Amino acid sequence: MTRPLYITTPIYYVNAMPHLGHAYTTIAADVVCRFNFMQQNETLFLTGTDEHGDKIVRAAKKENISPRVYVDKISKVFKELWPQLNIKYDYFIRTSDPAHIAVVKQMLQKIYDAGDIYFSEYEGLYCFGCERFFTKRELVDGKCPDHLVEPEPIKESNYFFKMSRYQDWLIDHIEKHPDFIRPERYRNEILAFLSEPLEDLCISRPKKRLKWGITLPFDKDYVTYVWFDALLNYVSALGYPDGELFKKFWPYAQHIVAKDILKPHGIYWPIMLKAAGIPMYNHLNVHGYWNVDQGKMSKSIGNVVEPLQLKNIYGLDAFRFFLMRDMVFGLDSNFSEQALVQRINADLANDLGNLFSRVIAMVHKYFKGIVPEVDPVVEDEFQLGLKSDMLAAIPEYEQSMENFTFHKALVTTWELIAKMNRYVDVTSPWVLAKKKASKKQLQVVISNLLNGLGVIAGLIYPIMPDTSAAMQKHLGMDTDLITKGRFNNLDMLKTWKIIKPGIQLPKGITLFPRIDLKKNQATPQNEAAAEDLLSVLKTEIPVEAFGAIDLRVVTILSAESIPRAKKLLKLEVDLGEKRTLVAGIAASYKPENLVGKQVIVVANLKPAKIMGIVSNGMVLAAVDDKGCSLATVDRKVKPGTPVG
Ligand code: MSP
Repeated sequence: MTRPLYITTPIYYVNAMPHLGHAYTTIAADVVCRFNFMQQNETLFLTGTDEHGDKIVRAAKKENISPRVYVDKISKVFKELWPQLNIKYDYFIRTSDPAHIAVVKQMLQKIYDAGDIYFSEYEGLYCFGCERFFTKRELVDGKCPDHLVEPEPIKESNYFFKMSRYQDWLIDHIEKHPDFIRPERYRNEILAFLSEPLEDLCISRPKKRLKWGITLPFDKDYVTYVWFDALLNYVSALGYPDGELFKKFWPYAQHIVAKDILKPHGIYWPIMLKAAGIPMYNHLNVHGYWNVDQGKMSKSIGNVVEPLQLKNIYGLDAFRFFLMRDMVFGLDSNFSEQALVQRINADLANDLGNLFSRVIAMVHKYFKGIVPEVDPVVEDEFQLGLKSDMLAAIPEYEQSMENFTFHKALVTTWELIAKMNRYVDVTSPWVLAKKKASKKQLQVVISNLLNGLGVIAGLIYPIMPDTSAAMQKHLGMDTDLITKGRFNNLDMLKTWKIIKPGIQLPKGITLFPRIDLKKNQATPQNEAAAEDLLSVLKTEIPVEAFGAIDLRVVTILSAESIPRAKKLLKLEVDLGEKRTLVAGIAASYKPENLVGKQVIVVANLKPAKIMGIVSNGMVLAAVDDKGCSLATVDRKVKPGTPVG
């Protein structure tokens, strides 16, 4: 029976650029959505941006532009990033959308009229980073645990939402619906929080302090507090209260968030829904935090991981796979490029990639690339449990995906890949191929392997859609994935009649080239990616930041080509200190002709890893149809001299 899915991500603040953490949540939502699509469920996937509040005003001020211009600019970055990560959202909501603002006002009025919003004076400790008041027991050493600053005491009159009135109801609801908040650790966290008296929620800010927000319908001197505005996006996007989408999809709502915003989603939001007479969402799915070097990612530490860079260097599907495989949903994970490379080499290049090319190569070697027919009697004899094990694993995989335990679904899938690799060893097709008498057995073995690969191609679709498409195409699978870009047939995998006998298969391809970080060994695939990265770096400096660009003269100390990267050179330069750069100038310059030259570089670019080499700056050159000509100075100057 099909059942619609409504999946949402948090709407992200536009005061920072998207990073690995935002990418994880949004890819997870995409995975859930694609999995449901594969089960032929109707799906609706919502993401967007949260654009009101102090944080945004401060970020806009820093760039000397109005909040409106600022939010338009950053929201566009989020909106345009997701398709580049193969994330197919259906609707992108912005809290500055007029339709959203209308719903927020309507809801405030409704709850105010019902007597659940009151006016009162409040004195408390306010963290500007979090945009909320803190109780003393929430502080760690007197500081906000997220921003590590002491909150400031603030006294002002404001509007409050009577959350306390709904405390007992919420405890009861969570107890009656054990997977309302999952995994269990977060459910327990909310229940522990609810074991203490719940304070009412301050939902307004006086306009004299904050203008960038939605005006309260019952008091024009106040705007609404960010959470009351932001959480309502989940229903305003569906056209609440009368929209067809609301009627159809709200009963199947599932949210994904990280643990940082558990409380607003596990407490404020259900109570807001209850007060407004809206049925509850189905599940709140809460994941942990991606850390870097066991610590928080932060702009000031300079360890923020950018998803596009990883995609460009390692390939999109490898990146998506790593995120879903390495994080146990609900727990924190530590990100490292080394772990990513290990996963690519072991799980993708070795286990899956080798199996795939081996099987396709055998079809070509033994059957001229044509999928063999099978004799039903021999088929049973030569299954050796492969078919039954693989078919039995599909419901297990489905269960893991339903529970958001993506890593488990992938473990199950990789156990099947290991099983298939063992099946090749045990049946030894190369021995069967030697004797005419064992031709029927060979046909069965190859047919089983092809159908097994068909199952794997289907199971990896939600996480690695491009790889799934490449496999399906090479296996001659006739599915909508290839024609319409979506795979919607999980049931077909269960038939074990996936690959049709008699069809001609194209020659195999390398799904995932091995990466050798030590040798800086490049593959054609990531050479192209490295060039992309260079071009992204070249276009990403905003014009208003020009004054911040540090241009310097450097002397080239040595230059060498990079194996299998035709267009790139590795340069060691003197900038007053020694630096390594990667430059896309190999088509115009021989390494030996560069030594001793003085050229101009951008010295304060964020280091970027290109072909495994950390490049610390960018060489400037004019480019025309004859190639490039390096920007230089017309007399020798001291290395490191600024260019002004
Ligand atoms: N605007 C609010 C959410 C309102 S939802 C009605 C907000 N925005 S945010 O930009 O700070 O996004 C927080 C979310 O980004 C987290 O809940 C998580 O989904 C994602 N992540 C941000 N950093 C993260 C990690 N380091 N690790 C994993 N995910 C994290 O809060």
